[in-house]
Amino acid sequence: MREAILLVGGQGTRLRPLTINTPKPMLPVAGVPFTVHQILRAREAGVTRLVLATSYKADVFASFLADSALVGPDSGIEVVIATEEVPLGTGGAIRFASAMLESGPDEPVLVFNGDVLTGLDIDGLVNYHQDSQSDVTLYLTRVDDPRAYGLVPTNEAGEVLQFLEKPQTPEEIVTDQINAGCYVFTRNVIDSIPADRAVSVERETFPQLLEANRRVSGVVDPGYWLDLGTPLAFVQGSVDLVRGFAPSPAVTTPSHYLALLGAEISRSAELSNGTTIGAQAQVGAGAVIDGCVVFDGAVIGDRCRIRNSIIGAGAVIENDCTVEGSVVGDGARVGAHNELRDGVRVWANAVIPELAIRFSADQ
Ligand code: GTP
Repeated sequence: MREAILLVGGQGTRLRPLTINTPKPMLPVAGVPFTVHQILRAREAGVTRLVLATSYKADVFASFLADSALVGPDSGIEVVIATEEVPLGTGGAIRFASAMLESGPDEPVLVFNGDVLTGLDIDGLVNYHQDSQSDVTLYLTRVDDPRAYGLVPTNEAGEVLQFLEKPQTPEEIVTDQINAGCYVFTRNVIDSIPADRAVSVERETFPQLLEANRRVSGVVDPGYWLDLGTPLAFVQGSVDLVRGFAPSPAVTTPSHYLALLGAEISRSAELSNGTTIGAQAQVGAGAVIDGCVVFDGAVIGDRCRIRNSIIGAGAVIENDCTVEGSVVGDGARVGAHNELRDGVRVWANAVIPELAIRFSADQ
């Protein structure tokens, strides 16, 4: 048996307003909730039992799993749910969820952040962990600008030297290797995390393990990596899945766009660059939709031009609008001839009158 914990209890504040009703890992990416991509990737890597560590909007996960054949009893992976009454942070969540694990004290347990899309060789990471007899092994990736991340320098033997969370000064930027949000823990290390309070693995558990001279390893994987935490990254991840640039067993045929069941798309509309059109959504005549995620039941009017944007469930974009690099919340209505650009966020159920906005403005 190989077991994993998937951390999905965060509030997803950077993706508001989309995460007001739906937790980030349950937002649809290339047609299915992101969590499904992750569960199927874990199954592909031989995980047979997975604990979903939930907190924020836990009921959304429970009702989805109850109805889903994708991760049902015959799917080859057993998925169980642990729900914290109050959020316990990443470390506290791992400790809490571990009560549902069956692995013995010396066995490896995988832990995945619930918002990271990767091409990681999961099996390779577990093998490295076991061969090196590590207490914890972290998946690392290299980025051009590491300032927004946790830096993890390693030595030539792959041993982690330090943890530096979100470094700001040039002296602190000692490496381009960052914590990529997937770990292998030896089970008894999880058991040593305090059970009765919030704990951050990044800020507390990992640095403490180094101080105690435990073996903490880092493996740099050169494959695909994206943190879907921001709107632009979320759109990018969905596009990359649809186009086949990012791997997922849930996407079998890469294509230029994906239209889900019951979507009504005018013959003169142009869909491109990995756009997904949700179930029962409508796209009007002459509309151009480039690299977007349009959620279920949304309506895009005639001649609209929508680029690199997320249109929430049931939102309505009336005729002749331009939407670029922006987010329209569930159920919002954007009147005709508006132009939303450069990070505009329209709140869920907001109503924007015709011709009200040109260029960027916060709603
Ligand atoms: P932001 O609020 O936009 O930063 O997003 P987030 O809430 O997802 O936070 P962050 O990206 O830092 O979290 C990393 C991962 O840990 C995500 O998959 C979260 O769902 C998860 N996570 C964060 N805090 C908790 C927690 O208290 N409990 C559980 N179960 N998961 C958590």
